[in-house]
Amino acid sequence: NDTAIIVVAAGSGTRLGRGVPKAFAELAGATILEHALRGLVALDASVVVVVPAGLEADASAIAERAGVVASVVAGGAERADSVAAGLAAAGDARWVLVHDAARALTPADQFERVLAALHEGAGAVVPVLPVVDTIRQADDAGLGAIVDRSALRAMQTPQGFDAALLRRAYEAAGDARGRSTDDAQLVQALGEPVLPVAGDELAFKVTTAADAERATSLLEEEAA
Ligand code: CTP
Ligand code: MG
Repeated sequence: NDTAIIVVAAGSGTRLGRGVPKAFAELAGATILEHALRGLVALDASVVVVVPAGLEADASAIAERAGVVASVVAGGAERADSVAAGLAAAGDARWVLVHDAARALTPADQFERVLAALHEGAGAVVPVLPVVDTIRQADDAGLGAIVDRSALRAMQTPQGFDAALLRRAYEAAGDARGRSTDDAQLVQALGEPVLPVAGDELAFKVTTAADAERATSLLEEEAA
């Protein structure tokens, strides 16, 4: 396959607080991982799912239920460690997409926009949304200046890359990758451009219990 999609699902889900790794928590009767994988069914890509060590067999069963042929590997302590594990299993695909399982409702056309930009020659592509909240700087001493939100963008996934470029970015970052929650940032650190494409509100990351409630009602609406 020309394209590999790495679905990172090895986080612990501390903020969601369900007592299971987040991708294995259920929303509207199926795990977050299953919802996320259902969104990949129509794409012509190989899929690598990265899960907490010990949950590989469960993840394979979930992928099968979602109708996706996936290889499953164990992740690491930080998100970037999990991406690196996925990259090691991604074979020789020309393009790699890195996607958060936690963005379980990401519409298929968001994947298509990222892929289209790669096919047009971009080396790194990130779906973004404008920031709607008023944002202030702050520290322990209190609130600071308002940040001009028109100059800000929220990052989503899937982030798409020329595979060789992403591998180079991870090699160059070395141990410093550990603190990165944004793969495109590592590419940018090489001095390479990152192309923004339109994100989608439905690609929000299920992080808190309130996010899970929102995702559940959207899924129930969809099923009704
Ligand atoms: N992730 C991962 N490996 C890690 C940490 C995160 O594969 N060591 C994945 C998560 O499974 C998720 C995505 O990266 O799909 C975004 O991470 P986040 O939303 O922070 O998920 P968790 O780390 O699971 O949640 P929390 O930070 O609340 O524990
Ligand atoms: Mg996390």
